[in-house]
Amino acid sequence: VRLARRHPPDVRVADAVEGLGDAVAKVIDAGHPVVLNSWVLSYLSTERQHEYVAALERIGSTADLSWVLAESPAQTPGLPIPTTPEPEHRTALSLVTWRDGRRTVRRLATCHPHGIWLHWED
Ligand SMILES: C[S@@+](CC[C@H](N)C(=O)[O-])C[C@H]1O[C@@H](n2cnc3c(N)ncnc32)[C@H](O)[C@@H]1O
Repeated sequence: VRLARRHPPDVRVADAVEGLGDAVAKVIDAGHPVVLNSWVLSYLSTERQHEYVAALERIGSTADLSWVLAESPAQTPGLPIPTTPEPEHRTALSLVTWRDGRRTVRRLATCHPHGIWLHWED
């Protein structure tokens, strides 16, 4: 959890699904909440990936929210990222936003899992 500028990072240990609501609640009065994941959701089962997205949907239904994620589409079939069959470690950098309760999904780029190369989408 990071409150912009004035506050130091507030590091918490929690399961990604269980801790998400509390983490966002902590920052939501301070500004626009941004959730960031990099190669974490592939460690969750597909069912847990769906639950993670459902938790984001609950937040996004009542508040504006942005979600930036760099994850392997091949390993995260529970996420709403556009994909075609891709190698296992191919990574999609994506932006999902909720504005006035409406979700928009944008795949921004395809990249190496450790960022060695990156190709922006058109
Ligand atoms: C490949 S590492 C990604 C590290 C991250 N991108 C970073 O730069 O620190 C995978 C991370 O997922 C975390 N992880 C796996 N399952 C998790 C879960 N259910 N809830 C929260 N984190 C989890 C692991 O603890 C590990 O830190």
